[in-house]
Amino acid sequence: MSAADATAEVQVVMLDTGRKRDLPPALAATLPPAEDARATTLRQPQDRLNRRVAYAALCALAAARAGVAPGAIGIGRDTNGKPQLRLPAGIGPLHASLAHAGTRVAVALADHAVGIDIERVGAIDHQALLHEYFPHDPEAADHDPQTWFFHLWTAKEALLKAIGTGLHLPLHELVLHPPSPVFQAPVSWPAGSGLGQTRVATLKPGAGYAAAVAVSGVDASTRVRCTLRTWPLEQFHADLPCHRPAPWSTDGSDAGSSPRK
Ligand SMILES: CC(C)(COP(=O)(O)OP(=O)(O)OC[C@H]1O[C@@H](n2cnc3c(N)ncnc32)[C@H](O)[C@@H]1OP(=O)(O)O)[C@@H](O)C(=O)NCCC(=O)NCCS
Repeated sequence: MSAADATAEVQVVMLDTGRKRDLPPALAATLPPAEDARATTLRQPQDRLNRRVAYAALCALAAARAGVAPGAIGIGRDTNGKPQLRLPAGIGPLHASLAHAGTRVAVALADHAVGIDIERVGAIDHQALLHEYFPHDPEAADHDPQTWFFHLWTAKEALLKAIGTGLHLPLHELVLHPPSPVFQAPVSWPAGSGLGQTRVATLKPGAGYAAAVAVSGVDASTRVRCTLRTWPLEQFHADLPCHRPAPWSTDGSDAGSSPRK
């Protein structure tokens, strides 16, 4: 395949956790016990629910994509906290990213390093934040400036999650084109950050939210194909081919293998 034919495939799922107190049983069955325990450390019930839903959905989606049982999917983190999938031998590459805000959970899976962010559009001093963090980015023009701020914010955070380094970069040096649903490279970026090989696109997460997804390790000729599905929580598992029979071990015995690149 020539470089001109290269395609990055991104799958995004949004889940609405509003008016729920716990995971539906089918989704709870795909939640790794370690992530269940991690969620108990969060103080707010909504945050605990969101984290559980995110990791249960991530395992279910990764299992469906890999054709294995959810128990065969292991989840680790690199030293910066970026989630890493541990897959049975011979499967991949498969990368993941998670975000949660308000009553929304966003999960992204891709064959390239991926980052996703979602934020609730709320009343903040967006002018001061724009001035501090995004002094060189395009202005809102005919958009509501508050929503515009959250579009820029989520696009930048998605990019930072895709490269996985956290927020230690000088954010004002990361300058974007006007946020768009079409994947775009940044205008300029901190030297040596790897952000030159990234693309980002805004998503439509529903009223009151802004979201974006980014991929890294792509060049200008790479086509990025993204699918987005929004599910009510109860519907998620019913629509997902989670338990497709697989030709390899599905007892979780491979789940501890090294992350695959
Ligand atoms: C990861 C981070 C960047 C985002 O956190 P957040 O906005 O509070 O929360 P989100 O829901 O969007 O994302 C949390 C998820 O990001 C993932 N994550 C954590 N560190 C990560 C990293 N280095 N790279 C990629 N993903 C990471 C985890 O999956 C985490 O979920 P978990 O805590 O349930 O395991 C966080 O480190 C942070 O510092 N946030 C501050 C926000 C900010 O200043 N943004 C600047 C916008 S330009």
